[in-house]
Parts: sequence; C-alpha cells; structure tokens
Amino acid sequence: MSDSPTSVVNPDYDMSVVRMFSIMALVWGLVAMTVGVYIAAELCWPELNLGLPWTSFGRLRPLHTNAAIFAFGGCALMGTSFYVVQRTCQTRIFAPGLAKFVFWGWQAIIVAVAITLPLGITRSKEYAEQEWPITIAIAVVWVCYAIVFFGTIARRKTSHIYVANWFYGGFIITVALLHIVNGLSVPVTLWKSYSVFAGARDAMVQWWYGHNAVGFFLTAGFLGMMYYFVPVQAGRPVYSYRLSIVHFWALIAVYMWAGPHHLMYTALPDWTQSLGMVFSLILLAPSWGGMINGVMTLSGAWDKLRTDPILRFLIVALSFYGMSTFEGPMMAIKSVNALAHYTNWVIGHVHSGTLGWVSMISIGSLYVLIPRVFDRECMYSTRLINVHFWLSTLGVVLYIASMWIAGLMQGLMWRAYNSDGTLSYTFVEVVKALHPFYIGRLGGGLLFLSGMVLMAYNVIRTLQNVEPADRPVTD
Ligand code: HEM
Ligand code: HEM
Repeated sequence: MSDSPTSVVNPDYDMSVVRMFSIMALVWGLVAMTVGVYIAAELCWPELNLGLPWTSFGRLRPLHTNAAIFAFGGCALMGTSFYVVQRTCQTRIFAPGLAKFVFWGWQAIIVAVAITLPLGITRSKEYAEQEWPITIAIAVVWVCYAIVFFGTIARRKTSHIYVANWFYGGFIITVALLHIVNGLSVPVTLWKSYSVFAGARDAMVQWWYGHNAVGFFLTAGFLGMMYYFVPVQAGRPVYSYRLSIVHFWALIAVYMWAGPHHLMYTALPDWTQSLGMVFSLILLAPSWGGMINGVMTLSGAWDKLRTDPILRFLIVALSFYGMSTFEGPMMAIKSVNALAHYTNWVIGHVHSGTLGWVSMISIGSLYVLIPRVFDRECMYSTRLINVHFWLSTLGVVLYIASMWIAGLMQGLMWRAYNSDGTLSYTFVEVVKALHPFYIGRLGGGLLFLSGMVLMAYNVIRTLQNVEPADRPVTD
C-alpha cells in the first residue's frame, strides 16, 4: 500500500471534510482533556467545585467523558474514515454535501450536549446521557454518516474492500444499533424522558450498550485507523492480512456477549454474569491477535522506531491496546472484579485504553494525515512531535500507575475487617489515603494535556506553511 504526500492532491478525492474533522478532533481533544484535568483537580481539592451546580464534579464528569469519546474520538474517527475510504476505494467521497451535513450536524450535537449536561439535563445513562431530542439528532446524523461511508464503498474502483473499511463499517453499523436500542425512551417534557426498559433489564440494555460502545466506538473504529496508518507510516504491508480478517470476525462475534462484566454481583441473573466473564476471557485472544498483527507490521522496519516519533506513537498505542485488553479480561474474573469494582483501578484501566490506545493512535494518525490533506510536505517540527510523544507516554504511565495503586489500596481497605466484624477503615480514611494518588493522576493528566498543546502549536505552524523547523526523518 503506497501513499505519498502529493497523492491526495488527486482531483478525484474530496478532502475538505477530512480537513474539517481533523482540526476539530484536535480542538475537542484539547477541550476534553482540559475538563479531565479540571475534574481530576476537583477530586484533589473539592473547593474547585466553586459551590456552583454547573461546575460540580457530578456535572462536569459526563461532560468530560462525552467530549473525550464522542467529540474528540468521534471527529478523529469520522475524519480518518472519510480519508481512508476514499484512498483505499480509489474514488471520490459519495455525496460530499451530505458529508458536510454530517460534520456540521455532529458539531451542533456536541455543542448541545456541552450546554445541557452542565445544566443537569440528563437521562442518567452512562455514555448516553443526552436527552431525547439530541438522541434523535444523533440517530439522524449517524445514518447520514453511514450513507456517505457505504455509498463511497459502493462506488469503489477497486474489487477488494480493504480491511480498515471492514472495521470502520462494523463500527458504524453497530453504534447505530446500540444507540437506537439504548435510546428508546418515553418523553414526558421537552427535556425529560424515561427509558422504556425497567429494573435489571434496563441495566442489562445499558451495559450491552456501554460495553459495546467500548468495543466498537473505542476499539473497532480505532482498529480501522490502525490498519491503515500503521502500514502507511511503516512503509510495510500488514503483517498478516489473513489474521486481520480473523481478527475482525472474532471481535464482532465475541464483543457482543461480554457486557455483563460491568454488572457483577448485581441483580442481574448469575448465569448472565458468568457468561459475561467467559466471553471476556475469550476476547483476549482476538484482541492480542490484532495487537500482534499491528506490531509485527514493523517487521524489517524496526529501525524506523529510533527516528520516527509518529511511528512510536502508533506502536506504543498498540502496546497500550494489548495491555488494556489483557487487564480487562482479568478484571472480568468474578473474584478479581469483587476487588476492582467501584475502585480507581477501573479508572486506571479506562485511561490505559482511552489515553494509551485511543488518544495515541489518533494523535499518530493525525500527524500522518494533517500534512497530506492540507497539502504540506511534512509537519512543521519533528522534534516537537518527539517531545509530545514523551509527554504523552510519561503522562499515561503516571496516570494509570497512580490509579492502579489507589484502586488496589481502596479495594483492600474496603474489605478489611476487625476481629469483631466491624470495618477496619471508615469511608473518610479511605478517601484521605487516596489523596496523594489523585495528585499523581493530576500530574499525569497535565503532562498529557501539555503534549496536546504542543501538537496544536505544531499544527498551526504547519498550516501557516512555515518552513519545517527541522528536516523530516521519514520520506
Ligand atoms: C488529560 C487527560 C485526561 C484526564 C486528566 C482525565 C481525567 C478523568 C477523571 C478525573 C475522571 C473521573 C474519574 C472518577 O470518576 O473517579 C475521568 C473519567 C473518564 N474519562 Fe478521562 N481523563 C483524561 C482523558 C480522557 C480521554 C482522552 C478519554 C477518552 C477518549 C477519557 C475517558 C474517560 C472515561 C470513559 C471516564 C469514565 C470512567 C469510568 O466511569 O469508569 N478520558 N477522566
Ligand atoms: C478484552 C478487552 C476488554 C475487557 C474484557 C474489558 C473488561 C472490563 C471490565 C471487567 C471492566 C470493569 C467493570 C467494572 O467492574 O465496573 C471494564 C471497564 C471499562 N473498560 Fe474495559 N475491557 C476491555 C478493553 C477495554 C478497552 C480497550 C477500553 C478503552 C479503549 C476499555 C474501556 C473501559 C471503560 C470505559 C470501562 C468503564 C465503564 C464504566 O464503568 O463506566 N476497556 N472493562
């Protein structure tokens, strides 16, 4: 698979919507991580709530998760998918006007969510908090996204559909299904609705959605990104194309059944919890197959890692993908979950996935994409990309190490009993013990965010067409 900076100038391609999405991915990434740093600081110093409902942790936290997953992650996925589908199908995007509608519709939805959540307007479903008018708007924009993506595939000039498109396509179809089923609600006013499901069934539907949002939004889509940008940046074909197809079908078949691991020891029937545990353990195999396939794509080109910080972003992202998909199945074992559940260990796992995997693969891909779609020779500074790489890596490690220690300690303190059967630690004692680790996490978040600020500067200089500050190390 060859790609060169000039090839996208081909008049057959329409990269305008890719340009818009790639810039907004960066902007929303900065916003989401700034809010993340702020709420991390609120957990250290609760006075930062400012005594106002709109800035309280409970309202800003869903703002952070929505901005990070759907605004930052969503723009990165939509932008790269529109790029990859055109390049690999060797055809112009289908319905460019509709693609623009998808862009503006998605931005309007993000703004609506960013206004309503701090106001306390919420359905209280994690990662699906937005109220019913916004839920309907998401469904409409998403269907248009599917029409543009699959329309482009339908008019491809190649006989084969490259594997990255399978992953993007699986992500688009599954997210539509999840969103529509979990969004079914009865509206009572313009800004209040109730889920059509009740009790344990509602919890099951919610975590079928929540887990597959992880599996398809935060994993399958980004694997599509990985299967295109790793080979392009490494200048090598995918290590095993056959394995990539097995990876795809295995993930599709297994992910759907693992949701109950979010509801261990709840009112959910015990057999469904065991089913969730078993499928989570099975999930380790395809996840690692994919991770190894990505990393081994560098076979014969390992030396590039010494000089190319973009490739380092991509490969370290894959390592974090491997790490979080090892940790996840372990946490799904019932006896381990009894210790991990409700603790900061889960937060550590989440951010090894979202910062280590999702953010780093997006950052690496955007560094490859931006000079190409803006018709620049290369990024303004490779040295700044290198500094960014180290800030991100150290930031994630500090974040997740703090949360692992905090989580284990928290779980163990909660379950410690005195000989007379009373609890060894009060709730406040546990909270006090967490304080230093919350500060460690804040430090990690600040490092990661400062890397993003460097990226923004580097992108602005690149767009201003300033001569590269240093020679690129890749061709
Ligand atoms: C500078 C980077 C970041 C910082 C400092 C940060 C900080 C935080 C904090 C303090 C929480 C609340 C933890 C709690 O409830 O105890 C949180 C939750 C969360 N964050 Fe981040 N975050 C960052 C980046 C991201 C990114 C990039 C994503 C997604 C792409 C993300 C996804 C999430 C999710 C899904 C949760 C909810 C976790 C759960 O409920 O288990 N975060 N984050
Ligand atoms: C084989 C793959 C994986 C398995 C089996 C798995 C398993 C788990 C388990 C058992 C939990 C803890 C549930 C709890 O006790 O509350 C969890 C939480 C979570 N995981 Fe994973 N995980 C996997 C991969 C990932 C990846 C790659 C990401 C992100 C990119 C991710 C994101 C999350 C999030 C956001 C939560 C928190 C959900 C919440 O309570 O809000 N997971 N996962």
